[in-house]
Amino acid sequence: MPGPWSRLGCFGPVVSLALDNGLGRRPPMGYNTWNDLGCKDMSEENVKAVADIMVSSGLKDAGYEYLNLDDCWMAPNRDADGKLIGDLDRFPSGMKALGDYIHGRGLKFGIYTDRGDQTCQNLPASLGNEAIDAKTFADWGVDYVKEDNCHSSTGANDKDVLFEQFGVMRDALNATGRPIFFSVCGGGDQLPWNKLDYYATDERGGAKLANAWRISPDVMEWETLQLAIDVNAGLAKYAQAGGFNDADMLLGTSKNSAKHMTQRHSRAQFNLWAIMASPLLIGANLRELADYDLATYTNKEIIAVNQDSLAKQGIRVREYKASAGLSWSIWARHLQDGSVAMVFFNTFPNSATLTCDASCWDQLPLKKQQKLSVRDLWLHAAAEQADAVAGESYSVKLDAGVASVILKFSPTEVLV
Ligand code: GAL
Repeated sequence: MPGPWSRLGCFGPVVSLALDNGLGRRPPMGYNTWNDLGCKDMSEENVKAVADIMVSSGLKDAGYEYLNLDDCWMAPNRDADGKLIGDLDRFPSGMKALGDYIHGRGLKFGIYTDRGDQTCQNLPASLGNEAIDAKTFADWGVDYVKEDNCHSSTGANDKDVLFEQFGVMRDALNATGRPIFFSVCGGGDQLPWNKLDYYATDERGGAKLANAWRISPDVMEWETLQLAIDVNAGLAKYAQAGGFNDADMLLGTSKNSAKHMTQRHSRAQFNLWAIMASPLLIGANLRELADYDLATYTNKEIIAVNQDSLAKQGIRVREYKASAGLSWSIWARHLQDGSVAMVFFNTFPNSATLTCDASCWDQLPLKKQQKLSVRDLWLHAAAEQADAVAGESYSVKLDAGVASVILKFSPTEVLV
């Protein structure tokens, strides 16, 4: 099957409509139903409750704008006109009304489909129906579409077909005239699981294809989270205003959430997602959200790092790895105001002193001898070691186990 890049039309080559929706200048922020409501609790009542809580909790004010419905919103069959419809048992008022409710709360409405003929939960999906589905979504006021990778007719790893089919949906969304954030979920039933980096690296992928693309399997616990970090460490240069590497959803600490971690793990994730410019999509149970998680998600200084207008994904400037799961690393992200955010991260079962030395500073966009003030973005105050000089060793002592800090290094004088 020819790809959109090689199609021939009556009057010569048809140039593919690369993604041109003007969206995704910063990583998207919001909530996704999958880890919380799954299929079992997917309902109008619960989605409306989430919308209300996003507003009343302050999450919306902190920047979380998308309320994204994942799999299981759709009825098992299309209607007589071939359109997707919402599952009437789950969403008796219909999807347009739900979108209106979400918009009425000042939020944006996200929805899910799949490039195959069925979703990962075996419900109707978009293959061959991209134009009609894109139009239906636009008519409902959808602002964000996540398209998954299950049930491909030629296998999940057939890159030519994969980029072709995702490209058809991209172009169909473009053609609606409604700006709709396009998120490609490379996961699906894709194997091998750890080889999703080509969504960023292939010339048909990245920001030409989508506003965000998953780079690893579902993040469900610490092991898959570490895999996401490792894959993403190699993909920094592919992120840009308009398209970002998606390391998957944020896991909170609440035992009432289907997937959860310890407090330290969850804050390490938040620190790293900020440095990596990954989408901040909450997967926790918002209806029973732990105060701790709300404090994590609404840390404005860390959100500002994630949303920085330079839109540069941070890089891993130092790493020492003893084995899978036992490592320490230092990450740095260049920010628009000339400062640098750094994460110091330790997963060893003993405390560790991590040093940004000359070779670490060499990778940062700061002039040698630049004097810096150092702010701890969890303390909201000067770091314990409050001053640094670019090029000279700066050390942080981290506790045993999973421990991390996020610091902001800001020039205190202009060097000429
Ligand atoms: C997976 C995807 C998840 C979720 C799920 C729904 O393939 O990675 O994020 O969307 O399908 O069935």
